[in-house]
Amino acid sequence: MSNLNQFLETMWVDYTKMNPQAAQIFQAFSKGNKHVLNDHIALRTFNHPKLGIKSLAKHFEKYGYKDCGEYFFKEKKLYAKHYEHQTNPDMPKIFISELELEKMPEFVQKTINQIVELIPQNKIDSEEFIFSGTHWPIEHSVYEKLAEVSEYASWVYAWGFRPNHFTVSINHLDQFKNIQDLNVFVKGLGVKLNASGGEIKGTPEELLEQSSTMANEEPVQFKEGIFKIPACYYEFAKRYPLANGKLYQGFIAKSADKIFESTNKQN
Ligand code: NI
Repeated sequence: MSNLNQFLETMWVDYTKMNPQAAQIFQAFSKGNKHVLNDHIALRTFNHPKLGIKSLAKHFEKYGYKDCGEYFFKEKKLYAKHYEHQTNPDMPKIFISELELEKMPEFVQKTINQIVELIPQNKIDSEEFIFSGTHWPIEHSVYEKLAEVSEYASWVYAWGFRPNHFTVSINHLDQFKNIQDLNVFVKGLGVKLNASGGEIKGTPEELLEQSSTMANEEPVQFKEGIFKIPACYYEFAKRYPLANGKLYQGFIAKSADKIFESTNKQN
């Protein structure tokens, strides 16, 4: 692939296949030729030596991205880093999280180690890996068993490697004064928002407010047949300025912790 814009566009196309709702919301935001800018794109992986954050980040670092922050999610056994483009602030940040396998029960470790062994190293080294999906056969019974321990583990097991969510920058959408107005607009499209910890995560004092849709359920072909499972979600972020006048660019672990739950199964 020849340039970063094309790479990000291919990620968006793959993502909207998993999340047609995002394409619908994006169109509603862009009505009247409005430009919709992304705040960040999020990816999920495991901290397996072949597959940790670094193995995904290298595909962005070559385009000028740099490691700019780290986050810990003790309860969910996750670790994450965010990357920013060094010269173009309009480029979305990249947020990559990894499941800490050594903190998982033996069944999870064994399953993940088995599926990781099936991925050829040259696939991981090619940038198409970012939207390559699964590289292993999937079983619904294994998916359910993983989900009992870690919803995150089951998501990556079933969907593989692809954008988990895109996030729109509310600061760059002049039709909405605040995140509350945007949430009302999105719900008006018939879309359900993630209400875990309240619809709005974070406060202006924390310099970042976020909300997100609940992931839609999409059909997946498992060994046992086709099952509908939560896919991807769309997120919205409003940033506030630091004392120096520049918008805060980091993330709030407490808020992100709740946002992860946007791929939880809804009853
Ligand atoms: Ni996010």
